[in-house]
Amino acid sequence: MKRIMVLNGPNLNLLGQRNPAVYGTQTYADLERYLHHQVKEHEVTVHLIQSNHEGELIDALHHAHHEHFDAILFNPGAYTHYAYALTDAIEAITPPVIEVHLSDIASREEPWRRHSVIESVCIARFLGQGFESYREALEFALKLS
Ligand code: DQA
Repeated sequence: MKRIMVLNGPNLNLLGQRNPAVYGTQTYADLERYLHHQVKEHEVTVHLIQSNHEGELIDALHHAHHEHFDAILFNPGAYTHYAYALTDAIEAITPPVIEVHLSDIASREEPWRRHSVIESVCIARFLGQGFESYREALEFALKLS
């Protein structure tokens, strides 16, 4: 049975309330249900973690490493754009990390959003499709040997 960690960073707990024009009206609980539903037909368990704290995200990445998770889907929220400690953590661990974003950060209005400090250490990225970004990342993770 494959084990995939889905790690979400700051403010993603406010999905549904936060800037719905960009992030949609569905909540974090909806995302949890959506992901569990996606894997129903597969031999895989998804382990979801959301934290507003950078250190907790690093601890979760280390946990996935020590527990030999098969892959990690990671949406670091705004930490994506400047948190080099996350870059180092991803580089240090064995499970492959897939970058995920609800919005298309590559074409967002604010220039600082267009750069990701984790892109170079992730094996793939899926963005701009709302919850579908997570589904595509999950499918990618399931195809990894
Ligand atoms: C986000 C994009 C980030 O720029 C933003 O800070 C978020 C969400 C996304 O999923 O589109 O919190 O990672």
